Amino acid sequence: MSAPTLLILYGSQTGTAQDTAERIGRQAQRRRMQVRVEALDIYNVANLISETLVVFVCSTTGQGDPPDNMKNFWRFVFRKSLPAGSLCRLDYAVLGLGDSSYPSLTFVSNSADGVIDPWITSFWEKVLSLYPPPAGQSPIRDDEPLVSFHSDGQPISPSPTHPFLAKVVFNERVTKASHFQDVRHIEFDITGSSIEFTAGDVVLMRPSNTRENVEQFCQLLRLDPDRQFTLSPTNSSIPARLAQPCTVRCLAETFLDIAAVPRRSFFELLATFATDEREREKLAEFSSAQGQDELHSYCNRPRRTALEVLTDFPHTTAELSVDYLLDLFPEIQPRSFSIASSLQAHPNRIQILLAVVQYKTKMYLPRKGLCSSWLASLDPRLGDVFVPLWVKKGSMKFPKDPETPVVMVGPGTGVAPFRAALQERIAQGKTANVLFFGCRSQSKDFYCSAEWEEMVKAGQLTLFTAFSRDQEDKIYVQQRVKEQAVLLWDLIVNKNAYFYIAGNAKQMPTAVCDALKEGFRSQGGMSSSQADEMLVAMERAGRFQSETWS
Ligand code: 2AM
Repeated sequence: MSAPTLLILYGSQTGTAQDTAERIGRQAQRRRMQVRVEALDIYNVANLISETLVVFVCSTTGQGDPPDNMKNFWRFVFRKSLPAGSLCRLDYAVLGLGDSSYPSLTFVSNSADGVIDPWITSFWEKVLSLYPPPAGQSPIRDDEPLVSFHSDGQPISPSPTHPFLAKVVFNERVTKASHFQDVRHIEFDITGSSIEFTAGDVVLMRPSNTRENVEQFCQLLRLDPDRQFTLSPTNSSIPARLAQPCTVRCLAETFLDIAAVPRRSFFELLATFATDEREREKLAEFSSAQGQDELHSYCNRPRRTALEVLTDFPHTTAELSVDYLLDLFPEIQPRSFSIASSLQAHPNRIQILLAVVQYKTKMYLPRKGLCSSWLASLDPRLGDVFVPLWVKKGSMKFPKDPETPVVMVGPGTGVAPFRAALQERIAQGKTANVLFFGCRSQSKDFYCSAEWEEMVKAGQLTLFTAFSRDQEDKIYVQQRVKEQAVLLWDLIVNKNAYFYIAGNAKQMPTAVCDALKEGFRSQGGMSSSQADEMLVAMERAGRFQSETWS
């Protein structure tokens, strides 16, 4: 008989039981057993009925009380309603870790120092006699690693198919409640992830659909959200990141992009299911070449979501076969954000500055950005929340030479990569930093201002601000760039400075470039084309870099 999966459940107050449980888990892996190590309070005890081999590792606290995370389990085991004999097929072992000096070690038996190792030795003798390993399979030696690493010695980095589950540490609004836009400063804990990054790099994450949308989706398609399914490939392969078996809820929440504006192919496929006359005609029109203008004003202009389309075609939606879900809905795509912190300043952390996307169209409900709304909704104060993420190299690079100055223009959340750069450069002793920051109002959306102030005071930063709406006429960063023509000419020509632009304002990068070139003309006596050429030459040399997004 081949060995069953070994389940190790620990109830731990101080971590000793967890540590011991994990040790037994590693020994099981070396014996080539399938093993799971779980905390008693997380494990669904009702599943014990289907387990075969379980080890309980429990510590006691105080006067022999079971630890907090074990109390539910204890209640379950002593429940009168537990069906008689329901656990009689279970092979189990109990390792109690307690302090024998406590007088009332009642339910959890004690274990004096020095008995753990002999206990484990006899446990393995017993287990291996009951479940001998298959012939020809030798144990993994102690000097062989259990985790594989790349041959270049680098630990495997989290990737799209194997993201790291990072805990959300904080999620704070950094604009005043009265300000039109909700901007968040969010921090993730990446301890143990082997993730590394430098200023300019980006973090990627895949959002989930909202619970309400998932519920609505299941109702419309008449699907039981808890129904489990397994996919088998027919004409296309199964996406690697889709865990199997999977519930309908999990598929709808984490995989199908039901909140995106659907494409023409969505209507084509939907039309094949339509039996209702009126719906079939409309879907056929949206699928046809002649119907594209109509489709544009129905879908694209008001940013109608696939889910909203389904509600408009209820008969057809009810006819949909689950086999077509992966054809109908695209996969939720990862979103990338400039990392706004440096590992030197914030070890084991990734911070981002996130503008929550929300706007009105003719649709009744406001349009919400899937990823930004999802991230904004994660509240670490209500319990642990985790986000699957990974990082990749960004296009922006910062100079290594400590003497080389950097000039950074980052209005709004465009300042994110520059916050990372400033933290990193200051940690490296690089103090030639110039930042142009723009926002609407000094009192409402001038986030990170306290940090900039400190850097300015310490002589590590020269800061120029443009508050567009604090006076009658708008002032933008490009105006400040123009005003600083003398300084910028000196930095760029005499000190070999690097110049950076980041942000999402559409006209901003061009306007900043124009302002910069105006300075080249006035300070360097250049013609218009010479100024253009100078900027092109800087770009070729990597001394002018721009990163914009919409
Ligand atoms: P506004 O919204 O008052 O027009 C961050 O979003 C800052 O960038 C805001 O102060 C915003 O001003 C400003 N901004 C908008 N369009 C811009 C542009 N074309 N060039 C520079 N800044 C711009």
